[in-house]
This record gives sequence, structure tokens and C-alpha cells, in this order.
Amino acid sequence: MSKKKTYIPTDKMSDIICDNYSLLQVMSRFGLPLGFGDYTVEEVCQSNQVDCLTFLEVANFINTHYPRTYTPSEKISIPSLMGYLKNAHHYFLDFQLPSIRRKLLEAIDCSTDNEVTFLILKFFDSYVQEVHRHMNYEDMYVFTYVENLLKGVKDEAYNIDMFVRHHDHIDEKLTELKNSIIKYYPDSRKTYVMNAVLFDIFNCEKDLASHNLVEDCLFVPAVLRLECEVANQANTYNQLEQTSSDKVEKSASDELSLREKEIITCVVKGLSNKEIAEHLFISVHTVITHRRNIARKLKIHSPTLLTVYAIVNKLVDISEVKLNI
Ligand SMILES: [Fe+2]
Ligand SMILES: [Fe+2]
Repeated sequence: MSKKKTYIPTDKMSDIICDNYSLLQVMSRFGLPLGFGDYTVEEVCQSNQVDCLTFLEVANFINTHYPRTYTPSEKISIPSLMGYLKNAHHYFLDFQLPSIRRKLLEAIDCSTDNEVTFLILKFFDSYVQEVHRHMNYEDMYVFTYVENLLKGVKDEAYNIDMFVRHHDHIDEKLTELKNSIIKYYPDSRKTYVMNAVLFDIFNCEKDLASHNLVEDCLFVPAVLRLECEVANQANTYNQLEQTSSDKVEKSASDELSLREKEIITCVVKGLSNKEIAEHLFISVHTVITHRRNIARKLKIHSPTLLTVYAIVNKLVDISEVKLNI
């Protein structure tokens, strides 16, 4: 097999679609419409407000047959990729699987009393329910978790690793159904119709496997990175909080701070709380808090004794003192 090329932003959109028609699905799930003329991938993405890098990451991952060693770009847009995955869910649940069921009903020979046809339909219906559960879980829990993470809010009871551990391959049961039909389906006059359904099941199976791989190999690494970023931000914030609270505690238990000494100087010069606040560019509330701390630290509540303390400790010259005895 010849090595598949990697698409770049300046490639024409029509060229990459003709090169690999399965990218039509990628286009529609990113919300890119047909009718793009001779525009490049970058131009088509730009005019539809789609993140070009993320579109190309998905397109190249699929086009190069999901290499195990694929290292996704760190610049993948998670909202963009999530939009792609949500649209894929909508496609499978509301279009592709109902369409296969309709065709399956048409193909199955209901006029004959055959248990195999009945069991095939039953198997398909229970499979569809399973796909609903799988995708509804991702829509309701995983994507909601990631949306909150994007806002910097981490649900401590959940992480993307939990999703990875329970992420089953929903395409596998479709493989079983396809194989059962091929091997055991009774002779029928509607072979063409059944073959057409099989063709759709083959495509759907491949599409679902591709969807799962995009989740495992592109989405999960991007979310892991986001989790680290949010955790780092939280650590930095906690460290800052700790430093600041350490300072407050130190200031609350140790010697007078520079600011408190300034407040004492102002007080003994006869300035009111409002004047001190204006002089030091702080609020009156902060002045009152400082004064309360000073009183507690020095165990001095009288302005006169505070003046004595200021003179003895050379915070002011006696000539600057205004006594309010
Ligand atoms: Fe999914
Ligand atoms: Fe999934």
C-alpha cells in the first residue's frame, strides 16, 4: 500500500475529498458544507469558523490509517473536536442506524416463518440500544465534564482516565451481526437488498471504529493535557493563597509590618481614619483592620500610649506629635 499523504492547509478541499471520499463525513461533522469550489482547506475552514488545525488533525489521522504512534498536535481545539464528536453521535443515532434498520426490515423476508431473520432483527435492536447508552453517556457525562474543565472547573470525582478504562468498542458487535448475516442468513429472493444492507453495515462498522479511535487517540490526550493545565493553575493559585495567608498570619503574630508603622505615624500625627486612608491610598476599612491588629500586637489601645510607643521607637519626632489627651 502506498504511503498516504498528509494534508496541509493550502491543499484544495476538493482535492483531499477526491483523494479520500470518507473525509466527506469528517467535513459534515465539522459543519463544513459542500460547494467549496476551488478554495483551500484553510479558506473553507476560515469561512465557516472551523478550527483548521483540528480538522486536519482528524483528516490526517483517518487518512493515514490511525497509526499507533500518532502524536496529536498540542494545539488541537477541544471545543472544535467535541463538536465533531457530538455531530457524529447525532449522525449514528438519528440517521445511520435507523436507516440500516429500515433497509434490514425491507431485506428480511417476513413472509417466511424463519427464526434466523427474527433473531437478526432482535440482535440489531439491542445493539442500537447499546450504542444509545454509550453515546448518551459521552454526551451527558464526558462532554459536560470537559466543558466544565474548559472553564477551569474540575470535577474531583471524575477524570478522563475513568472514561478510557470503560470505553468499549461499539463497532465490535456490529461485526458479529455482519458475520452472522453473511454466514447464516437463509437463502432469499431479496439478495440484492440484503447485500445493500450489508454494505451499509460494513461502512457503519468502519465509521464507528474510526469514531472510537478519534476519541481514544486525539480527544483523550487533549483532555489529559487540559486536566494537567487546570491542575497546575489550581496549584499555582493554592500556592499564592498559601503565601498570602502565610504573610497575613506572620503579620498577625509577629512584629509590626511596615504598613502598620506608617499607620501608627499617621495616628500620632492626629490624622483621622479617613485622612489616613487617603494618605496611604487604602480604604477606611483597611485602616481600621490595621489599627485593630496594631492594638492587639502592642496590647496598646490608648492613642496616648501609642504616641509614647511611637516616640520611644523613633517612628516620629516629638515635634510632629499631636496629642489628643
Ligand atoms: Fe463517541
Ligand atoms: Fe465512544
